[in-house]
Amino acid sequence: MKFLIISDLDNTWIGDDAATIALQQTLKEKRDRFYLVYATGRSFCSVAREMRNFWLLTGEPLLTPDYLITGVGSEIYHQGILDYHWATQISQQWDRNGVVQVTQKFPQLLPQIEPEQNPWKVSFCLHPNTKPAILNTVHEQILQLGISAKIIFSSGRDIDILPQTTDKGIAAMYLREKLQIPLNQTLVCGDSGNDLSLYQHGTRGVIVNNAQNELAQWYSQSGTANHYFAKSSYAWGILEAIDYFNLGTT
Ligand code: GLC
Ligand code: MG
Repeated sequence: MKFLIISDLDNTWIGDDAATIALQQTLKEKRDRFYLVYATGRSFCSVAREMRNFWLLTGEPLLTPDYLITGVGSEIYHQGILDYHWATQISQQWDRNGVVQVTQKFPQLLPQIEPEQNPWKVSFCLHPNTKPAILNTVHEQILQLGISAKIIFSSGRDIDILPQTTDKGIAAMYLREKLQIPLNQTLVCGDSGNDLSLYQHGTRGVIVNNAQNELAQWYSQSGTANHYFAKSSYAWGILEAIDYFNLGTT
């Protein structure tokens, strides 16, 4: 039986090159015994660039994932091809133009660069002098238009507005079911607010020690025996968790 690793990239799988290389060294020996999914806020192009840069800088390639969840769950790719079934599924009751219409009324929301926007993701940075509570008002106004959307806040700054039917966690469970891997043989790994949904579906989960406040706070309030707050940071934390949960030993 294969196991499944679903990991965020920035400040989790990558962020400490020595840790990434050590983790990959351990996993390379068992590469045929697990599926790997990177689940990131980045766009597909941005992931491809990051993978190239990692190799250029370290001389080691990042492990090739079986699937990619990009744009915080708004897109799923397999061998470079968009999962159209997923795209169709999350398009129901979603109206991107309506979301943009609402958000334009809030100058506190600073649009992110165009390549990070996609048909199912509208992203901003919160103006530094603004309290995140403003997002409740934005959300209410979107709902008033009958649009089913969710707002995800990460790293005390990034705002992603997505269809209500997606996030990293929902996308991760779609793949887990497709691959038919049991919950206790699935490990999710993350460090920030956009990873929070990964931990809410009964799989094993590691929160790396360098986690952002929003995720560390969630863990202290809602963490369960399935969740492990690592003693070490970045990919060292993932290594620790593989050991802690005895993954790949059954
Ligand atoms: C990545 C994405 C950005 C998103 C952030 C948090 O940095 O590039 O668009 O807002 O993750 O999800
Ligand atoms: Mg991250």
